[in-house]
Amino acid sequence: MSDLFDFGDRVDRYAVMGNPISHSKSPRIHALFARQTQQQLEYSAIQVDSGGFTQAVGNFVASGGKGLNITVPFKQEAYALVASRSPRAERAGAVNTIKIENKKLFGDTTDGVGLVTDLLHNHGINLREARILLMGAGGAARGVIEALMQQAPAYLLIANRTPDKAVELASVFADLGTLHGSGYEQLAEQQFDVVINATAASLQGEMPDLPDDVLADGACCYDMMYGKVTQFMHWSQFHGAAKVLDGLGMLVEQAAESFYLWRGVRPNTAPVIEELRSELTY
Ligand code: ATR
Repeated sequence: MSDLFDFGDRVDRYAVMGNPISHSKSPRIHALFARQTQQQLEYSAIQVDSGGFTQAVGNFVASGGKGLNITVPFKQEAYALVASRSPRAERAGAVNTIKIENKKLFGDTTDGVGLVTDLLHNHGINLREARILLMGAGGAARGVIEALMQQAPAYLLIANRTPDKAVELASVFADLGTLHGSGYEQLAEQQFDVVINATAASLQGEMPDLPDDVLADGACCYDMMYGKVTQFMHWSQFHGAAKVLDGLGMLVEQAAESFYLWRGVRPNTAPVIEELRSELTY
C-alpha cells in the first residue's frame, strides 16, 4: 500500500492487555479522552493468554505501538518486563502503564493516584489526619498504599483475612508514616473515617468480616470495584456511612494519568465519568 493511504501507521496506537479483557472500559475511556483533547490515536483491547504476555508485548512493540495499559493478571509480569520504572511503580511492585519510546519500555503505575484523585477531587473526601482502613493485602491494595500515605493520614491500617500478609505489606511501606497490618478481629473497638475495599471478596459476592461499629461518624466507604453494588457497599449503607462510593472514578482517573504520561495532556475526567455512570444500571 502506498504511504499516502497508510493511515494506520500515522495514528499512534495504544492498547490494554489483560485476561479477561472483553468487558474493559479502557478503550471507551481513552477514545473519549482523545476526542475531548483532539488527539489522534487508536486504543484497542488485547486478550492475552497465560504464558503469552512477553510475546504479546513484543509483537505490539515491533508493530510500532506507543503505549500499553496492563490489567489483571499481568501487572507483576509487566513490572518484571520493562527496562525502567517510575519510583511509584518500583514501590508498588506492579506496572499498569507502559510507555514505549525507541522500542524501550518504561513502566509506571497510576492506580494509587487514580484512587486518591477520585477521593479528593471528585468526592471532596479529606485524607489528611484521617484514620484509614484498607482491606486486602494483594496487588490491588499494594498499588494504592504509597499514594494514600502521601496524603498524611493520621494512620493507615491494612486488614486482611490472612493477617500475616497485611503485617508484611505494612512493613514494606513503614518509612512513609504510621501504618500497621492486622486481621479483621483486631478491628473491634476501632473507628475509621475512610474504609477502602481492595479485596477480591466482591467478586464472590462476599465481603470481609468487619465488626459492626467500625465506621466513625461521617465515614466514607469506597469499593475499588465498579459495575454493581457490592456486598460491602450494601453493608456500608446499612451501617450509616455518610458516603458510599464505587471504583468507577478511580478507573477513569488512573486512565487519565496514563493518558497524561503518553500524550502530555490532561483530559477533563468529569464528563467521562458522568457518561460512563449514566450507562450503569444502578
Ligand atoms: P488483587 O491483585 O486483586 O489484590 P490478590 O492478590 O489475589 O488479588 O488478593 C486478593 C485479596 O482479597 C487478598 O487480600 C485476599 O485475602 P487473603 O490474602 O486472605 O487471601 C482478599 N480476599 C479474597 N476473597 C476474600 C473474602 N471472601 N473475604 C475477605 N478477603 C478476601
